[in-house]
Amino acid sequence: MLTFETIQVTKQFLGKEKIQGKSIGFVPTMGALHEGHLELMRRAKRENDLLAVSVFVNPIQFNNPDDLKKYPRDLEKDMRLLESVGCDVLFAPTVEEMYPEEEVTEQFDFGKLETVMEGAFRAGHFNGVAVVVKRLFNIVEPDKAYFGEKDFQQLAIIQKLVEMEKMPLEVVPCPIVREKDGLAMSSRNERLTVSERAIAPFIYRTLQDAVKLKENKSPGEVKAWVTGKFSEKPEFELEYFEIAGDKALQPVSEWNNSEGTVGFIAAFLGKVRLIDNIRFY
Ligand code: PAJ
Repeated sequence: MLTFETIQVTKQFLGKEKIQGKSIGFVPTMGALHEGHLELMRRAKRENDLLAVSVFVNPIQFNNPDDLKKYPRDLEKDMRLLESVGCDVLFAPTVEEMYPEEEVTEQFDFGKLETVMEGAFRAGHFNGVAVVVKRLFNIVEPDKAYFGEKDFQQLAIIQKLVEMEKMPLEVVPCPIVREKDGLAMSSRNERLTVSERAIAPFIYRTLQDAVKLKENKSPGEVKAWVTGKFSEKPEFELEYFEIAGDKALQPVSEWNNSEGTVGFIAAFLGKVRLIDNIRFY
């Protein structure tokens, strides 16, 4: 695996490979890699000639300074995991390399996609994601880029970004990878205490139970039921549970709409904010 820290060398190397006809599969990450990330990478490796991965904890997508400070970082461990999935190129830039300017001013308009759920609760988050992903795409110039459905709304934002900027690449959605007890894998899970980790699967269990209620309850009633379940668990602080269409991501009040329907959740467990989602159909 080649490891590059600068934009110039990364562009130069991958540009040459592309001219020689090699296809590039790209997985952008913030490191603290786990099986969820590695599954994206295995798929990218299978479907392309070269696997490129970025590890960059992007400061401008954090709306909470404490979350940024405590975000787990271990590049040496990440590099061992990247070797194990056959990563060809690791791009691991510094903050100065990615953001030489004093202030990032590029603003995107994702319309209603960013006014709900993560967009509503994390001001500026998706703009920060879009700025870094656009820069990364321009550096790596991938044929295909792989994103997890764990961050379902982020995936929709990236698809919109690629469409708006007319970028010549395919965005490939990948299913959520879970721990055996159902907890969606996340770098933030490392920050849970032992007792928090033990009760964390409650989130996914509640989502699964919510889906079972679909036959007899309206989306509004299912929402109220989930809210009630969380109010019985003082360890959790539910930020939102929303049932929304899987394309426009707007909340639905009836089941039979033209899109698929997904339940989205965000909850604090202690100091750690966890998100998850589940298909209703
Ligand atoms: P990060 O949280 O490191 O996630 C990198 C990629 O891995 C994202 O596409 C995410 O959806 C996917 N992923 C994480 N956990 C997953 C799981 N349990 N199952 C499936 N996929 C999973 O998302 C980001 O980084 C950043 O916002 C980034 C896109 C890199 C921009 O900074």
